Amino acid sequence: MTEILLSATGLTKTFGDFTAVDGIDVQVTKGESFGFLGPNGAGKSSTMKMVAATSPPSGGELRIFGLDPVTDGAAVRARLGSVPQQDNLDEEITVEENLHVYGRYFGLPRKVIRERTEELLDFAQLTGRRKDMVEPLSGGMKRRLTIARSLINNPEVLLLDEPTTGLDPQARHVLWDRLFRLKRRGVTLIVTTHYMEEAEQLCDRLVVMDHGRIVAEGSPRELIREHATREVLELRLQLEEPADHTTAAHLVEGIGSHVEALPDRLLLYTDQGDDALDAVLARDLHPISSIVRRSTLEDVFLHLTGRTLVD
Ligand SMILES: Nc1ncnc2c1ncn2[C@@H]1O[C@H](COP(=O)(O)OP(=O)(O)OP(=O)(O)O)[C@@H](O)[C@H]1O
Ligand SMILES: [Mg+2]
Repeated sequence: MTEILLSATGLTKTFGDFTAVDGIDVQVTKGESFGFLGPNGAGKSSTMKMVAATSPPSGGELRIFGLDPVTDGAAVRARLGSVPQQDNLDEEITVEENLHVYGRYFGLPRKVIRERTEELLDFAQLTGRRKDMVEPLSGGMKRRLTIARSLINNPEVLLLDEPTTGLDPQARHVLWDRLFRLKRRGVTLIVTTHYMEEAEQLCDRLVVMDHGRIVAEGSPRELIREHATREVLELRLQLEEPADHTTAAHLVEGIGSHVEALPDRLLLYTDQGDDALDAVLARDLHPISSIVRRSTLEDVFLHLTGRTLVD
């Protein structure tokens, strides 16, 4: 039995004349790790705030745990954890006080708050910093504390808006590990990101969003299979100024299944990157550099929108 925890139909968010979320349909089932992948301004945070029951939809239907977040906001929030894009910790109090305050906000008994605080400090690797003020902590520590705090009510669903943006690779991997553990414990994760690697690491299934709309949906592997090839040959050619690679695609026409031209390079989509490179060299093109790599969600996004995810 798959239990649907989040269901959105034609979900819309407008700000004045501007439509930030333009009629999206999404379903997330219990235990899933679900992602919204999209560039800046795609409407990811606007969607998350509606799901978190902190911003009312402008149109469409939204149900969380079968409840309407507008009329049953408190009941929805009690069962959710929410990590907003910007940390909103109380910086003037200590690490553990931040957890206590949140526990009291949810009306949890003191004993429960004390027990969960110990677990969550450990989970966030902040036990040694429990008595420290939040303000001087590093960005990674603050992010871990925000996630720990969002877990104080033992949520069934954890919403994470750009969980690792601004963190260095090591801090990012620590956070991914923490999120994997939560998932193993049965917590449903709903994540937004504009990092394709994060989406590939964390998400069982995701939607690609652009300009408030969903442009594709599937598992990372399905999306790559559907919208890209197995491999990509990235080429940088010696071009006469002022030409850049956006006008150079014709040079490699017919090699591979399709070409994307970015200002600084050509991307040749093919199942055999090395063979494609041989074909390029046979045309007497002398690339300054060439690499063959596997296709990623970045390629899926480029193929669907003609733009890169992170610019
Ligand atoms: N309160 C608001 N008032 C007016 N416009 C808003 C408001 N919040 C968001 N928007 C607009 O809605 C669009 C979507 O914003 P949103 O924050 O949902 O995007 P996002 O996908 O989260 O982007 P990012 O990756 O930069 O966080 C943007 O054009 C933004 O300027
Ligand atoms: Mg955002």
